[in-house]
Amino acid sequence: MGCVSVKVACAVGVRLKNSFGECEMQETNYWDEFEYSKLKLLLNKEKVSSILDVRNGVKKMDERFPISVELHLTDNCNLNCEWCTDKELRQNRAVLNLKVIKKLFREFWHHGTGVTLEGGGEPALHPDFMEVVDAGMNAGIDMGLITNGTVDISGCIDKLKWVRVSLDSSTCEEYKKEKGVDCFERVLTNLEKMCKARKVEETFIGVGYVLTTRNQSSLMELVKRLENIGVDYIYLRPVEEAGDITPSLESLLDLRKKLAELTADTRIKYMLAISDRVVDKNAGLPCIAHSLTSVIHANGEVALCEKRRTDGIILGNVYENSFEDIWISPFRERISQKLLRPECQSGCSACRVTGFNMIFEQLEKVHSKHFI
Ligand SMILES: C[S@@+](CC[C@H](N)C(=O)[O-])C[C@H]1O[C@@H](n2cnc3c(N)ncnc32)[C@H](O)[C@@H]1O
Ligand code: SF4
Ligand code: SF4
Repeated sequence: MGCVSVKVACAVGVRLKNSFGECEMQETNYWDEFEYSKLKLLLNKEKVSSILDVRNGVKKMDERFPISVELHLTDNCNLNCEWCTDKELRQNRAVLNLKVIKKLFREFWHHGTGVTLEGGGEPALHPDFMEVVDAGMNAGIDMGLITNGTVDISGCIDKLKWVRVSLDSSTCEEYKKEKGVDCFERVLTNLEKMCKARKVEETFIGVGYVLTTRNQSSLMELVKRLENIGVDYIYLRPVEEAGDITPSLESLLDLRKKLAELTADTRIKYMLAISDRVVDKNAGLPCIAHSLTSVIHANGEVALCEKRRTDGIILGNVYENSFEDIWISPFRERISQKLLRPECQSGCSACRVTGFNMIFEQLEKVHSKHFI
């Protein structure tokens, strides 16, 4: 792990110590792509300066397109995860129209915006899924995919930058309990097909793992199995909004130690996200970083974000307007100003944007900018 990365992680560590009486550990086979994820801001310096201009009152909104958007292809799903945070959205049963998707891709290409294909429901169940991926590739879009892995998508693996398969269990029995359907082995077979079909190193293939109090009986064996299949990483995080089955902080830190030992010499890497997922109310900060990303629902609604639990904000609908018109609108300008008031984020829960807001806040406090 590089020196810069250690410094960033230490800064997060201090915050963890304050909040939980525990300090972040540094391990050898931690997934660097995640470790460096906040440093990606350095690669997007115009975006950063546009966001800081809003913070400093130089302008009223960051009009630059998001760095990436989450595109919900469909609300339909073939599984029934007990804790799925998109349960409500799935009631819509909406499917995003291919023509609209192609139009969005043209806009996103123009602004260098990356696209994560995900739910609502299960993106690979979109009736034109392969065409969607082809359209993204032809438009020159960088695409990632979050999928439950029940559909064999190995045929398009090389067209994606990364794929994350949500496995969320270590045995068939756990899978049935967590996800309501019996297809653990089918998902592992599909993962194997993806790993075999790709040109290695061109597409990152990972496994997503939502941790509950009841799905870790064979986790270490699973990690070994994933290593043999050729999976690059496993990304674990505690279940959100499911209090009674949420693992304790102690058990998460203990799991982290075990994973560090197990993966010391393996190719597969791990990431156990704790800090990003436990902070509520956006840590009492203004939300200036919301414009790093945005969400497009399968019914065409452009949502500001996903984790405002008390007053979700819909910016417009791509069936009615272009993304650009929605993004650079007087309404979004008003929202942008509203989010400068920390108290407006009182209903925000476990939001990954909070980590970026914390970084911007720290930057604002730097006293010796012209010294290194
Ligand atoms: C809503 S799903 C949509 C994509 C696809 N159906 C899937 O499951 O991968 C997107 C991601 O959200 C995660 N997720 C859903 N509910 C969650 C919860 N309560 N806590 C943490 N992650 C959750 C899923 O595990 C999945 O990785
Ligand atoms: S597979 Fe994805 S969308 Fe479907 S229920 Fe599970 S988490 Fe929700
Ligand atoms: S949930 Fe709150 S903190 Fe997260 S992006 Fe939305 S407004 Fe910002």
